[in-house]
Amino acid sequence: MKFYITTPIYYVNDIPHIGHSYTTIAADIMARWKRLNNFDVFFLTGTDEHGAKISEAAKVKGKSPKNLCDEMSAKFRETWELLNISNDDFIRTAERRHFIAVENIVQTLFDKGLIFKKKYKGMYCVGCERFYAKKDLDEKGRCPFHKTKPILQSEENYFFKLSSFQDGLLERITDINHKEHIDVRPEERRNEIIGKLKLGLEDVSFSRSAIEWGIPLPFDKSQTAYVWVDALINYITAIGYPNDETKFKKYWPADIHLMAKDILWFHSVIWPAVLMGAELPLPKTVYSHGFFTLNGDKMSKSIGNVISPQELVGAYGVDAARYLAVTLMPFGPDGDISWQGLTLKYNTDLANNLGNLISRTLKMAEKNFNLKIPQVVPDLELAKNVAGILKEGFARNMDGLQLHKAAEVLQSAITLVNRQIEADAPWKLAKTDINKLAARVYSYLQALAVIAMHLLAFMPTLTEKIWQIIGAAGNISDIAKKYFADGVIPENGFSISNADLQIPGILFPRIS
Ligand code: MSP
Repeated sequence: MKFYITTPIYYVNDIPHIGHSYTTIAADIMARWKRLNNFDVFFLTGTDEHGAKISEAAKVKGKSPKNLCDEMSAKFRETWELLNISNDDFIRTAERRHFIAVENIVQTLFDKGLIFKKKYKGMYCVGCERFYAKKDLDEKGRCPFHKTKPILQSEENYFFKLSSFQDGLLERITDINHKEHIDVRPEERRNEIIGKLKLGLEDVSFSRSAIEWGIPLPFDKSQTAYVWVDALINYITAIGYPNDETKFKKYWPADIHLMAKDILWFHSVIWPAVLMGAELPLPKTVYSHGFFTLNGDKMSKSIGNVISPQELVGAYGVDAARYLAVTLMPFGPDGDISWQGLTLKYNTDLANNLGNLISRTLKMAEKNFNLKIPQVVPDLELAKNVAGILKEGFARNMDGLQLHKAAEVLQSAITLVNRQIEADAPWKLAKTDINKLAARVYSYLQALAVIAMHLLAFMPTLTEKIWQIIGAAGNISDIAKKYFADGVIPENGFSISNADLQIPGILFPRIS
């Protein structure tokens, strides 16, 4: 089975901040989780490099658009490397392969009579790279996202007959039995999209005559493709459209396009309409998460309250930063974050719960057995209870992109083992029944192995380390793939070798 997941391609007028990181980390966790579940995953991210916004940013910085794009796109790549993002490709819309795909789609739509020329006057927001109808602006006539007044533009452009897709789109979004159903999520946002669709669709501008930094239309080189059309097509360019049919057929349609609510309309309406026009299959799920604010304020450079991914990693380390980013607020609605909240969650979930479980287990093994636990008949009851809790809630929440809930389930499994240790009172057993203590410590290690396999997608590096510390044999990904395929713990438990137990050191130092 294949699984194709995408993030938005980010504008290169700005450096990557925690907002971009949020979407990308979530997509990465999903991609890793699906790989562990034996899917053939293709995970795409990249940069959106054309249009007015980028040309203007280049002008302000006194650079050529090409230089700005090279420089900033590299920053995104570096950041994703820092965050241990496992994307299979990184697309840049200024690449040659993308020009070919855009030319192909635009020409196809033109040949089908879906593109026509028209003189147009409208209010354009450069920040959003889109025209706004008056009714969609706020009470002061400003863009609802950028709070700036759009500029009046008048041009002769090519237009796409979006209006002719209204009924087709409504059917595909509302009818879950439609063979081309698009699952727009979460539900409240799907309802908003349906509501807007019902009001009717206007044809949209598909080209710009004044913007040179873009992809010229194949049938009229004096105009460039509208940046959003250009951008959306990246999702098929990267998997080989139009020249690598085998790869394209293997991965298309996308299983999940992931993004925030700001650009849901483009992904759930415009993009499917373009695909319908070109007679290509439609994405299966379009998932938009919320926007987060920082201490109640919108993050913005002018307020100076932007958190950088580098700062987050500096404060908590890469693995914890990934975990915290996606668990601090529910995935879907808007939410507020703060450094205080991040640190509290770090201390509660990672230092106190998980870190404590690992360190107390290994300390018991060290103190009582000098890290050589006597051979015992494996008691797998605790590991099975942990597996039971996780089976109930973890996979369902992961597959539904409720990453914060999946992490909650994981935390409750960790709590269960910590409670069991307290109930077992190993410090008493050490004096009364050393063999029983050996069996209990062994059972904690087995439970930790199950926990580690579920943690792996969130914290890839630290979890591999945990796997080694507990002396678990083999490569954790391979063992996890088998475990998730079989759905049961091996009869004699996971192979844990005494010789390989390690003193953990402090994996998650408490932060005050
Ligand atoms: N280039 C377009 C996308 C084209 S996709 C075919 C674009 N780029 S963007 O750089 O503005 O990125 C927007 C996306 O960044 C959001 O949809 C979201 O994924 C992420 N976020 C940016 N700021 C965010 C928050 N404050 N909160 C949550 N996500 C945020 O739009």
